[in-house]
Amino acid sequence: MRHFLTLRDYTKEEILEIIELGIKIKKEFKAKAQPPYLHTQTLSMIFEKSSTRTRVSFESGIFQLGGHGLFLSNKDIQLGRGEPVKDTARVISSMTDMIMIRTFEHSRLEEFASYSSVPVINGLTDTYHPVQLLADYMTIIENGLEKNLVAAYVGDGNNMTHSWMMLAAKLGFELRIATPKGYEVDAQVMKDTQEFCKISGGKVSYTNDPKEAVKGANVITTDTWASMGQEEEKEKRIKAFSGYMIDDEMMALGRDDAIFLHCLPAYRGQEVSEEVLEGKQSVIFEEAENRLHAQKGLMVWLDLHR
Ligand code: CP
Ligand code: NVA
Repeated sequence: MRHFLTLRDYTKEEILEIIELGIKIKKEFKAKAQPPYLHTQTLSMIFEKSSTRTRVSFESGIFQLGGHGLFLSNKDIQLGRGEPVKDTARVISSMTDMIMIRTFEHSRLEEFASYSSVPVINGLTDTYHPVQLLADYMTIIENGLEKNLVAAYVGDGNNMTHSWMMLAAKLGFELRIATPKGYEVDAQVMKDTQEFCKISGGKVSYTNDPKEAVKGANVITTDTWASMGQEEEKEKRIKAFSGYMIDDEMMALGRDDAIFLHCLPAYRGQEVSEEVLEGKQSVIFEEAENRLHAQKGLMVWLDLHR
């Protein structure tokens, strides 16, 4: 049985297999010919943070696969009142077929998974957001950009950045990261990424100059400057990230065929301008929809590997 906690635990072949399966299911679904791959299976979805995309894509996804999703907010379940993770994991996994969790510390997710008798999926932690990257890479493939891929991530060194790093290091493409000083990525994640790059031929580089990062890139991406749990730092961060907005001028430094990705929610006038977000290079809504299809691929893949 496999969990899906970070891309670190997956090989290049496995990551591509999951995404290809998602693309296949997407085609079947659009043709109204998708089999009920997970007939009568249940997915428990534990949310300790807010969500629009992750909740709707997993809940719709499991239903479209012939199963049922249970939305479990920490406001409603005993976990939120202090029931231990290890008890919650054993109880829920004895009653449902798969579990998705969105939480704070990555170690909380790992603890949950270590007590779960069914596959556990990371729906976002403070450190990683791997399901988002499945959808992002599916969008890159659909836009024909996976060959000679040069991705640029401009913004906060956060869960999205770490996930991009793991994807680049596993699949072997070039990723340039630009963050302001003091908002760098986790040093251990960078170290591990460099080790994986030696095997894959990937290249993950780092700069404090956003323009240097986006120059010649064909995928340009960013994320909120203040992640969930950092709301109180918002004003301080807006000042620290001055000059990091992806605007038309920044996009013009990328290749002509470059696409703009954003996991959403986006904050217009902060990490990205209205013009870029709504512009012709932006594929953010295809990317968001692909959460549904990529995660269906993931759930079916995890079911096949138990
Ligand atoms: N991108 C993403 O995970 O969005 P939500 O926070 O709305 O789930
Ligand atoms: N970095 C953001 C991603 C939201 C999908 C956060 O953790 O809030």
